[in-house]
Amino acid sequence: MSPHGTAIRLAPSLLSADFADLAGAIRAAEAGGADAFHLDVMDGHFVPNITFGPALVKAVRRRTALPLDVHLMVERPARYARAFAEAGGDTLVFHLEAADPPVEAIRAIRAAGKRPGVALRPETPLDGALPLLPELDELMIMTVSPGFSGQSFRSEVLPKLRAARQALDAQSRPIELAVDGGITRETARTAARDGARFLVCGNSVFAEGSVGDNLAALRAAAVQGSHDPVP
Ligand code: DX5
Ligand code: ZN
Repeated sequence: MSPHGTAIRLAPSLLSADFADLAGAIRAAEAGGADAFHLDVMDGHFVPNITFGPALVKAVRRRTALPLDVHLMVERPARYARAFAEAGGDTLVFHLEAADPPVEAIRAIRAAGKRPGVALRPETPLDGALPLLPELDELMIMTVSPGFSGQSFRSEVLPKLRAARQALDAQSRPIELAVDGGITRETARTAARDGARFLVCGNSVFAEGSVGDNLAALRAAAVQGSHDPVP
């Protein structure tokens, strides 16, 4: 068992919600027991898609007191850290593959009083993140290629997830281990088995059915997975 516990946290990704009714999506997810919200910022350079910027994060901040996990799929994260901090983000997760040196992004996020996180694309090895761990509050393993919601979970990423769990367990302070992309009831269980404790869920929460039922089913699956034996 991980020395840092097995508690599961679910972060609905608002990218899969109805943008014309975000307040309704936030209310439904809060009522269904969401632990945080995940906000996908895409700049059209680091990823081909464009989503939203600090103004939307600020609008979401006004509607919820839950932690906001801001996923910066942008080329120059250090440059935008302050704007997303002032908008009300709590954890600012940037990509190891982005143009800014990671230490600069971490410094900018800390200077803004926020929690730094690093995300890795599916094909990026864990090695580059290891020296940064003492400075981080979250490590996000992407289980799809960043850019769009509704893609399928890439199970070839699981060995990296297990290695990340081991690396975090060896740290003296807790660092959140997140997975992002393609989380369904089935993959929530597998990801939790392999050490993920913070699960970003987009389509599996918002695409169909009741948000509350979806969250409950995802949580039950993840809790089960966190007790499954690691292969
Ligand atoms: C993809 C985003 C994800 C996405 C998850 O680039 O980072 O957060 O919204 O959506 P699902 O859960 O549908 O894969
Ligand atoms: Zn994301």
